[in-house]
Amino acid sequence: MQSKLNVLAIAGSLRRESYNRAALRAAQQLSPDDIELEIYDIGAVPPFNEDLEADPPPAVQDLRQHIHAADALLIATPEYNYSIPGVLKNAIDWASRPAPNSSLNNKPAAIMGVSVGTFGTVRAQLHLRQIFVYTNTLVLQRPLVHITYAAQKFDAQGRLIDEPTREQIRALLAALARWARHLSAFGD
Ligand code: FNR
Repeated sequence: MQSKLNVLAIAGSLRRESYNRAALRAAQQLSPDDIELEIYDIGAVPPFNEDLEADPPPAVQDLRQHIHAADALLIATPEYNYSIPGVLKNAIDWASRPAPNSSLNNKPAAIMGVSVGTFGTVRAQLHLRQIFVYTNTLVLQRPLVHITYAAQKFDAQGRLIDEPTREQIRALLAALARWARHLSAFGD
């Protein structure tokens, strides 16, 4: 692994003013010096079609290449109907295939999520952890980052203004860096 960790950050929302994407922008600013964090937009990824998985559309090839090249993933997911949004599941399904060369296999990852209400995507994050069991994506267990009441934590420009939440994201990034380096030394 190179000395600087290349973290690919994906938001599970395509909404222009997405709080989850805003949380990734905050993570970009809060990254320690040894992390390079790129925010990747999954908006161009088409609906999954198994007929196309061996020779997929360019947006899927691009997604897979970016995940393969990344040292680790950071996912910020909204909660839709107690689960992860379809667009995120769709991107994961493409990235996980073809199975023998899944870009998600053995990939270190961290997750977080932002909701506008009380629960901070706790149910969606549990579903995402379950999905990552099957894909053998190596998700960090702690710290948990469940950002509640988004309208109080972000300003009108989408900047994360809540210092305790900024500290949680700093801690998550530091733990992800340790986790990815540990797994790399271990030879995944
Ligand atoms: C939601 N929302 C929502 N919130 C929640 O806490 N639990 C839920 O199950 C749901 N379900 C749900 C379904 C659908 C279809 C939508 C559009 C929304 C609200 C959701 O948390 C809110 O829209 C967030 O702002 C979405 O994240 P972004 O787009 O701001 O990143």
